[in-house]
Amino acid sequence: MNAVFPGSFDPITSGHMDVLTRAAKMFEQVTVTVMHNARKQGRHLFTLDERLDILREATAHLPNVSVDTFGGLLVDYMAQQQQGIIIRGLRAVSDYEYELQIAHLNRQIGDTETVFIMAATRWSFVSSSMVREIASYGGDISEMVPRASAAALRRKHDDVYAEREAALAAARRPS
Ligand code: PNS
Repeated sequence: MNAVFPGSFDPITSGHMDVLTRAAKMFEQVTVTVMHNARKQGRHLFTLDERLDILREATAHLPNVSVDTFGGLLVDYMAQQQQGIIIRGLRAVSDYEYELQIAHLNRQIGDTETVFIMAATRWSFVSSSMVREIASYGGDISEMVPRASAAALRRKHDDVYAEREAALAAARRPS
């Protein structure tokens, strides 16, 4: 059976990788699909193309994993692709309520099945948004994301660091 692992992946984290790697052992083929989350409208750090590039690099070692994108409803994608199962990762109980609602709604409007995979506890506090915030201040996120995400975050924030450093240096200079 095949599965789809949908998400925003802005960028993919070690928690996502953990869920994906375990899904890839359970299903013949897993498609990681970058989709649009209306709640995160206009709040993305990476463009769609950047997120797809990061995902391709981060999943290159998984032979039965492919990367895709879709701009509509997840249930329409599942029907169009004739895919089997939706995979979602759970980090903590706090994720469950939201995920349960979406899984029920997707089942109601698209007759889809969702399988939850619990991310390892060491990733339970890791989210793309926290990783983005830590990285934006130059913090070490190398454990929390695959190398492709870390490199992309570094590139994205190089300019930000340079600007901050220049501003600090200017402020420190005696007038
Ligand atoms: O990584 P995320 O942001 O938690 O992923 C959420 C995502 C993108 C899977 C969800 O928002 C989604 O399925 N978007 C596609 C549009 C859709 O089907 N919406 C109805 C269910 S919320």
